[in-house]
Amino acid sequence: MQGFTWREGVLHAESVPLPEIAEAAGTPTYVYSAGSIRAGYRRLEEAFAPLDARLHYAVKSSPNLHLCRLLCELGAGMDVVSGGEMERAWLAGAQMADIVFAGVGKTDEEIRAALDGRFSLAADAVEVFGAADPAERGTVGLFNVESESELESISRLGRELGTRPRACLRVNPDVDPHTHEYTTTGKEENKFGIDADRVVALYEKWSSDPGIELVGFHVHIGSPVPLVEPYAEAVEVLTTLIDDLAVKGIRVEVLNLGGGWPAEYSEGDVPPLEAYAERIVPLLEDRTAAGLRVLLEPGRSILANSGVLLTRIQHVKRGRAKTFVICDGGMHTLIRPALYRAFHFAWPVVWHGAEPAKVERPQLEDLEICDLVGPICETGDFLARDRPLPPMARGDLLSVFSAGAYGMSMASNYNDHGRPAEVLVDGAEARVIREREPLSAALAAETRVRKLTRSRRLARA
Ligand code: LLP
Repeated sequence: MQGFTWREGVLHAESVPLPEIAEAAGTPTYVYSAGSIRAGYRRLEEAFAPLDARLHYAVKSSPNLHLCRLLCELGAGMDVVSGGEMERAWLAGAQMADIVFAGVGKTDEEIRAALDGRFSLAADAVEVFGAADPAERGTVGLFNVESESELESISRLGRELGTRPRACLRVNPDVDPHTHEYTTTGKEENKFGIDADRVVALYEKWSSDPGIELVGFHVHIGSPVPLVEPYAEAVEVLTTLIDDLAVKGIRVEVLNLGGGWPAEYSEGDVPPLEAYAERIVPLLEDRTAAGLRVLLEPGRSILANSGVLLTRIQHVKRGRAKTFVICDGGMHTLIRPALYRAFHFAWPVVWHGAEPAKVERPQLEDLEICDLVGPICETGDFLARDRPLPPMARGDLLSVFSAGAYGMSMASNYNDHGRPAEVLVDGAEARVIREREPLSAALAAETRVRKLTRSRRLARA
């Protein structure tokens, strides 16, 4: 969390005190450190430099246009999983050729947009961010293809539009990434990718199709992957497939290793990124020297520790069984604790004691065990359970750490609180990069009722 430090008892994002942000932007608010994002990107880039790996930022992890733009400026390509994300990536400054389009359920409409760049850009965004003529956008750099049915769709639309897009087949290597079952993607019972033992035949069958050009393989085994070894296992499955194709005279150009690279949520809980690189680089070095291009799709490893959720305590309730610290942030702002039982370190923004270790049970005096909960009408609405925290009072600010990835992107309007604001800090400068969502935004889509049928019974609305 290098972007976030206590100075004279007040937590700062770079050189901006968080209480100032709370005052100006309200709470709950996501606060990101641009310096930390830059450092995170460079760290990964350096670790995999021996493979000259190209990084495609996983937009889903933290999709704000300004964050995507920052990554584009660093030289990242973009990894998108929907037409919406593709539009964002484009507005953020990515060329279509720098975008890889993944996702298990691409619609014909999305594929078409990826082929001809004619997605319908939101007028307001175009005004601010600019956008070239649709005719000049071109075709997405790479598709990650998840099934034969998808191959058929892309090929059909490619031929229809007179283009032959490049694509990787996503392989399901049946490897256990040792992460939460909901974010495990590389086991054969998961919906993702094509079984490894079917890939070679499929690749061969489609290798000279006129509507799609197969150029290699994609794999993503899960997120986060807290161990190095599953990646090595996956890479070995992939290199075997590459060799099997070589025997048939088919040369693989691209190997996309996906994302899942970890971030430290609790001190020392995962190996450093360099340990992943040290294990993987030797497996691929000779191949990259011979022309294989390696891509990575990182999100969390760059963003998670580059953002915090700033939340204000609304009430403290000391019950018979538990103490509840009730914040304005909750499962609607950060769903990871509720959905995956994920650990996020949380601590008061104003804190004059020794800097706490970011662990589940900091060894400090006078802590009180509490449940950190939100305002949502569900018992599952918690940010932390049975957590030792300094005694806190109504009005205090609290920082929830490691919230920069899969925080805002999974936030919802549940209970009509409106999604939080986002602030980007760069040195001494703080900018609101997304306003708090007003209720009017949610209501706008509900205010005009359209009759779908003439039947009185169905059209009662
Ligand atoms: N590539 C593919 C094909 C993916 O499915 C994902 C993440 C990534 C790249 C980026 O993974 P990363 O480097 O960020 O770990 N909501 C969950 C995480 C879901 C990840 C989905 N796919 C969470 O909050 O932990």
